[in-house]
Order: sequence, then C-alpha cells, then structure tokens
Amino acid sequence: MRLDKFISSQRPDISRSMVKELCRKGMVSVNGQTVKKPDTHIDESRAEICVNGERISYREHLYIMLNKPRGVVCSSKGGRSRTVLEIIPEEYRRSGLFPAGRLDKDTEGFVLLTDDGELAHKMLSPKSHVPKTYFARLEKPWEEGYAEAFAGGMTIDGNEKCLPAEFKGGKDPFECTLVLHEGKFHQVKRMFQALGNRVVYLRRISIGSLPLDPDLPLGKCLEILHKDVEKLLAR
Ligand code: URA
Repeated sequence: MRLDKFISSQRPDISRSMVKELCRKGMVSVNGQTVKKPDTHIDESRAEICVNGERISYREHLYIMLNKPRGVVCSSKGGRSRTVLEIIPEEYRRSGLFPAGRLDKDTEGFVLLTDDGELAHKMLSPKSHVPKTYFARLEKPWEEGYAEAFAGGMTIDGNEKCLPAEFKGGKDPFECTLVLHEGKFHQVKRMFQALGNRVVYLRRISIGSLPLDPDLPLGKCLEILHKDVEKLLAR
C-alpha cells in the first residue's frame, strides 16, 4: 500500500495532502528511516510507520462502541436529524464506516459502528441468533406471565412470529431486561404492545457477550479492543 494511503486510512484526521507536507518536513519514518516520498510503497502489515515520532499501528478494521443518545438516527443520511456518524469524533471517521444494526431514534444505548462488512453481516444475520440485551421501562408494571410469553416465541401484529426471548422483571415493577436473538423492526416495542403494555424508555445494554461500558456517557464512543471484537458474535 502507498504510505500516504496507509497513514490517512489509519488516522482519518491526517489527510493525504497532510502526509505529503509531513513527509516534506521529514516527520514521517518507515522502519526508522525518514521517508520523503508519500507515494512510497510499504508492507502495511509489517512496516513500523511513525509520524512525528508516534507509531501508527495497522488495524484493518475499526470497531466503535457508541452510546447513542435519543434524537440521533442510525442511518447514513439523517435528513433533519443528526446521524450516529455525525456525532462521533473526527479521528474515528473512516471511509466505509456504518452502523451495524439500528436502534430507533428514541432508543438509547449500544450501537456498533464498523467498516467490517463481514462481521456486521454475521452479527445481524437472523440465522446467527446473536443475543442483544435491552433495558426497558414500561408504562404499566410487568406481570408474572411475561417470562413465559416471551420464552414461548410470541406472535406480533397478528402474524409475525418471534424467536423465543428471555424476559427478566426488575425489582422496580416498571423495569425489566429482555434478550432478543433477532432484530425485527421496533421489535421490543411491538412485543410489549402485544402484551397490552407500552415501552416508555429503551436502552440496548449489550451485543453478543459485550456489554455497553457503564462509564461511557451518552453520545460518547470508544474503540472496541481487538480481544473484545469476537464477543460481539458470542451467543
Ligand atoms: N426494539 C425496538 O422496539 N426499538 C429499538 O430501537 C430496538 C429494538
């Protein structure tokens, strides 16, 4: 790969024209040697690239955990609403980044942003049954029969059959958690509606076996470490 392409793909805050300038100033090195030509070809998986003394490590893909606030949409184009891609900091804005799975505009919580289409496909495929856990606050107290109703595979809107889901009532009679193994449109809201209740607040708190970092403030994001990426697919 070309040196300028490598640096700007790993560090979206450094454009290719900036790399050219940095090379000219002698601030870019490859394996300890200063490199003045931005079109130099490098072996991106092995070469040690430094910009201004700082090592730029190679990551083929980026995985970002965003704690989505209300009012932000999970699509690439938002119209008049802000999108998840618009609220993340500059340094994470890589080309090809997209939200893997959607939360409603009024739902908060864990959204994965990535440029890894293969992982997103595996995570979202209905066949993979990757669990997604939600915390919900309800309009009316939850009832004893809910766990059984969810576990039995509920039918919503007359004819849409859902996979078995795990319901757990909270100490607070209006609060609960629900684990789904698929992602139908407005699914949590429609499931509670089928039980004669209504969701008044919803937050996704985990994907696979990876929980939303409890210290991550709303609207903020962090990079998911390599060792944790597989957890996004754990059943
Ligand atoms: N189910 C819903 O109803 N809304 C969401 O945003 C996610 C799951």
